[in-house]
Amino acid sequence: MSQPSSSTAAPVKFAYWVPNVSGGLVVSTIAQRTDWSLEYNQRLAVAAEKAGFEYALSQIRFTAGYGAEYQHESVSFSQALLHATTKLKVLAAILPGPWNPAVVAKQIATIDHISNGRIAINVVSGWFKGEFQAIGEPWLEHDERYRRSNEFIRALKGIWTQDNFTFKGDFYRFSDYTLSPKPVQKPHPEIFQGGSSRAARDNAASVSDWYFTNGNTPEGLKAQIDDIQAKAAQNGHTVRIGVNAFVIARDTEEEARAVLADIIEHAHVEAVHAFGDAVKQAGKASPEGEGNWAKSTFEDLVQYNDGFRTDLIGTPQQIAERIVALKAIGVDLILTGFLHFIEEVEYFGEKVLPLVRKLEAEQAARAGQAGNAGKAALEAVA
Ligand SMILES: Cc1cc2nc3c(=O)[nH]c(=O)nc-3n(C[C@H](O)[C@H](O)[C@H](O)COP(=O)(O)O)c2cc1C
Repeated sequence: MSQPSSSTAAPVKFAYWVPNVSGGLVVSTIAQRTDWSLEYNQRLAVAAEKAGFEYALSQIRFTAGYGAEYQHESVSFSQALLHATTKLKVLAAILPGPWNPAVVAKQIATIDHISNGRIAINVVSGWFKGEFQAIGEPWLEHDERYRRSNEFIRALKGIWTQDNFTFKGDFYRFSDYTLSPKPVQKPHPEIFQGGSSRAARDNAASVSDWYFTNGNTPEGLKAQIDDIQAKAAQNGHTVRIGVNAFVIARDTEEEARAVLADIIEHAHVEAVHAFGDAVKQAGKASPEGEGNWAKSTFEDLVQYNDGFRTDLIGTPQQIAERIVALKAIGVDLILTGFLHFIEEVEYFGEKVLPLVRKLEAEQAARAGQAGNAGKAALEAVA
């Protein structure tokens, strides 16, 4: 069963995708003011924290055969964003294989000190075979990649929290290892991990602090969340849920829908097919066939992580209502992407976020009243 955020639960959190890869977040030739440069990204990070975003998620890509021609590395880029900001938490994407847990534990502990506890990681398990082949990394089959990620996360947690850490896994081994200094954040920097497949969900339900998933309908998301939270409860594990959404917020719904139509009309057809071929292979490769992109249509694939499907497209009021509805099915964080990042992040902070907070406060007040009425009724009976 999902644990629907009660109206008294924490406010829904907001993250944005760091455009550290060229071409923005859509596979489209539509004109975009988003830019992958450091200068643009630092301005964006400052605007985002001012607008009320708590997290920024960087991407890791070693090569891309489908557009996205230039890609800055995630850990070093995250650090540069931390230097430009004071509150934002930055998530560095980490790919087991190229990275091993000893290096990541050390690197992230140091960044945690430098940034005063503002680094987190997103452990990605890999879906792009061509990338692994290009850099000479062995390509494990789908569920083996997740078994490796599971060991990777357990090893990281052990190194970050214990002295004399010993671990004997199939992929990683540590003997009497003590990392000094340990990270600033306790028990350790937050560990995000994403996917949709059975293996991705099982990892979330046992080792990850946060589960990220692709955009989806509320029904599709609820099925995933219920499944994860039921398993997490059995495991005595707590995991929070983040969902991808490509946000198009405009003063009228017509304007917002017109932007979506324009993005799709300008889809870079060849690149969408190349991306689709690579990800579909990954989606089908999971034994149960429920991988991240298993059901994506051509239009869905114009946004890398099915972000149109979450349908945060419309007026600020419509979007705020849909966000609060997502919270009610157990979503804790909305991971946003935008066409023209800086100005749209600012618009979101000014127009959408206050409405979300207002709706959350109204719900809390209603729940409070219901709670008081219930208490009064009980007292009357007693
Ligand atoms: C929010 C989010 C961010 C991701 N970021 C990256 C990334 O930066 N690099 C990468 O190679 N894969 C990334 N992935 C891919 C996942 O790690 C995983 O390989 C993919 O979702 C396929 O998983 P599945 O087959 O288990 O559903 C991301 C996935 C999600 C949902």
